[in-house]
Amino acid sequence: MSWEDVKEKIKEQADIVQVIGEYVELKRSGVRYLGLCPFHTEKTPSFSVNQADQYYYCFGCQAAGDVFSFIMNYHRIEFNEALKLLADKYHIAIPEKKETAKHQAERQRRERLFQLNEKTAALYRDYFIKQKGAEAARTYVSERGITSKTGAAFELGFAPDPAREGWNFLQSRLTSEETGLAAETGLLATKEKGRTYDRFRNRIIFPIRDSRGRCCGFGGRALDERGPKYLNSPESVIYRKGELLYGLYQQKDLIRRARRAVFVEGNFDLLSLVDHGFEGVVAPLGTALTSFQLGLVKPLVDEVILLFDGDQAGITAAQRAVVHFLAEQLTGRIALLPAGEDPDTFVRAHGVGALHELIAAAHPLPEFVADQLKKRHGLSLDGKRKILAEIKPLIEAAAGRAQRAMIVSHFADLLGVSADDIRVQAKTAPAPDRREHAAAISVQPAAGTTLTPVARRLLVHMLMHPHNVAALKEAGARDELAGGVGEVVLLHLESMIGHGHETVQPEEVLHALPPGAERTVVAQLLSQRPMMGDDESGSLRGAVECAELIDWLKKSRLQKQAGSLLVQIEQAQKEEDFVVLRDLIARKMEVDNLLKGLVSGR
Ligand code: UTP
Ligand code: MN
Repeated sequence: MSWEDVKEKIKEQADIVQVIGEYVELKRSGVRYLGLCPFHTEKTPSFSVNQADQYYYCFGCQAAGDVFSFIMNYHRIEFNEALKLLADKYHIAIPEKKETAKHQAERQRRERLFQLNEKTAALYRDYFIKQKGAEAARTYVSERGITSKTGAAFELGFAPDPAREGWNFLQSRLTSEETGLAAETGLLATKEKGRTYDRFRNRIIFPIRDSRGRCCGFGGRALDERGPKYLNSPESVIYRKGELLYGLYQQKDLIRRARRAVFVEGNFDLLSLVDHGFEGVVAPLGTALTSFQLGLVKPLVDEVILLFDGDQAGITAAQRAVVHFLAEQLTGRIALLPAGEDPDTFVRAHGVGALHELIAAAHPLPEFVADQLKKRHGLSLDGKRKILAEIKPLIEAAAGRAQRAMIVSHFADLLGVSADDIRVQAKTAPAPDRREHAAAISVQPAAGTTLTPVARRLLVHMLMHPHNVAALKEAGARDELAGGVGEVVLLHLESMIGHGHETVQPEEVLHALPPGAERTVVAQLLSQRPMMGDDESGSLRGAVECAELIDWLKKSRLQKQAGSLLVQIEQAQKEEDFVVLRDLIARKMEVDNLLKGLVSGR
């Protein structure tokens, strides 16, 4: 069976309402289902799922597509991965290999890296639980109030003290192939002459998993004062800290259920809160919050709460984060802890109730940041200048061009300045720190994507009746669509027909279109099209409609000709060029007659 077959099989078996229903609560509404859009924040449902046509379309953010794009966007995975996930769900066997040798080698190497991390996590975990050498670590963890249940849930481990186990505790337990891989992901460090030794020594180990549960790397907290407090896995092909959130894997379901995620700064803060029964928490691994990290929780939540220190560091962190929230169109609030406290000390001192209160009183993030800036600089001319100087680089760093305008106007409102004052000097947009597939998630209706009523009808008709495309084109459909988003759709449709897809299905067209405005438009058209069966009355109605459209196109073309002839006639009259004039008038009459014929022929 080929991948193409798998895709077909999935289409046969997967019902979009069932698939999406696992992630979004859907209620029937007429011929559709409605729910809260997982791709943007909303309070009333505008996310529609069309069972008959197997599409979803969000009237709020224009996200649109089929089962495949839903799974891709929801989980932020590539098409092939979505295919595998769905094939798995519907027990459809997948072809052994189709990927290129290079691709396959890379994937297998990544899998081996994950396996090595799994083995390493188990070794350190085992040592932590069982060995005498981990006694101090166990005492430390329990003195910090972390129960063994929480420790187990997060698989806390211990990398032993070299004074006890030597500098090659891990390495001595690896095969030579694993040793090479371990050096690559930084589990082993290299000293001169290529000799290696364990990177993590005498540290409590936090395995860091991605949202699918793969162990990507480790954090290690020192037990003594030697070296930095935390040592983390270095960046590698499987560990990109800006794209991971500590705790997300373990807390995902709770976060989804609560529709809220609380971000804390420290790994220990997270463990401590979970231990106190305060759940739905993640930590960004010591990085400044990235758009990517927000994107990871966005499908699960209505809002994100930043639980930060009340000192300047916390405020600065909030200020850096705010642009990412605006760029992601995600609601963020900030709860500030009393000075000198972190979530861990706070919950221990005041209990979970106090924490809930603190969070209930959290401030909306953009307003908070604007207030802080106003407080610090004032709104004098000079103050405004300083504020702008502070936020411009943030906006530049955080957002693509389309998002900037939105962020700028938001801040302009909050600060009471004009958008022009803030407008970031039009440097070419830096590559946003998100990858392409993320861009498909919420497609903004860009300029030029609105269709005239006729263009709309034309496109729907051509999608539903591809065999009429040639006739409609002949009658002037291309001119009618020229310049608009429909033109590209027509081109795609034509090229598919040209390649032997005489009976191209609307969903095939949708698939052929790259994510973006055209695809959105097509999905939108299809989800709004009138119900039309394949039965005879359906095809009869199709034929009637086609004739009507052709008439309309012909008429429109003739009217344009008549208009242009009139202009030329006036010109010729002015120039008293009677030979040309007579010819023009004759042509005009001909056009007028054709127009009359069209009208009376109806
Ligand atoms: P914290 O210092 O707040 O860590 O740093 P913590 O987890 O609360 O640790 P305790 O309570 O002092 O034991 C916040 C996070 O920043 C990262 C870690 O992920 C840490 O959890 N960090 C901190 C580093 O990566 N390296 C460091 O040297 C320090
Ligand atoms: Mn702490």
